[in-house]
Amino acid sequence: MLVMDEKAKHEAMMAKIEAGEKLESPEELTDEYRQALLLLMIAQADSELAGAYGYVPWIEGAPTNAEKLAMANIVKDEIRHAKAMYDLLDRLEVDTNHLINVDKMKNRMKVFYEPIKTWADLVMFNFLMDRAAGHQLHDAAESSYGPWSRTMVQIEKEEWMHVKHGETWVKRMAANAETKAEIQTALDFWFPMVNKVFGKANTDTNKTFQKFKIKQRDNQDVRLSWYNEIKALFDSYGMVCPPIDLIAKN
Ligand SMILES: [Fe+2]
Ligand SMILES: [Fe+2]
Repeated sequence: MLVMDEKAKHEAMMAKIEAGEKLESPEELTDEYRQALLLLMIAQADSELAGAYGYVPWIEGAPTNAEKLAMANIVKDEIRHAKAMYDLLDRLEVDTNHLINVDKMKNRMKVFYEPIKTWADLVMFNFLMDRAAGHQLHDAAESSYGPWSRTMVQIEKEEWMHVKHGETWVKRMAANAETKAEIQTALDFWFPMVNKVFGKANTDTNKTFQKFKIKQRDNQDVRLSWYNEIKALFDSYGMVCPPIDLIAKN
């Protein structure tokens, strides 16, 4: 009986997904869909929180008063993103208190384990990683799970503000002979790690995400949309953007 119920649920759910409708209540989700959704949402929640913590020292480390406020605002945004994600997870009956207090910081993307050591590292992280988040969250904003998709619209906008912060500084540091080498070093340091956050091309897991429309594109397509953007910018700044084809298969 239970098997049939799950099959009927799957068919009703897939019919909605394929018609481009949003799934709204947790009861509509099959176990397989729920597991796939949780994998992405928990990774995002933990990454948002880790992002906030990584930026905290840069309120004190920022070079000007205006920059201290800018960094405090970015920290506030990331904490809000994490809170919004954990609220969504609460609605899916995940023990979020366990995630943040007991299981803490186990689910974030690997790049968030690496500390930000200098101001050049900080602005390059904004430039590369917040942009990577912007591209990934664009897919999430079109997700078949309604509550997540609506939450992502505002978060995506804020990620692009963080990217603009990074862009202003990277451009400025690249234009100054005294800081150009330093900003290039920051690019060479972060590039391989951020390139990996998109994941491998053409995986079975990704095909499941796409089947359920909780991701809209293959990892490689998201990576390329990110890369084409940064490559054009680094070329215009007279910086050397590492080639993507050497490391994309890592
Ligand atoms: Fe964020
Ligand atoms: Fe951000």
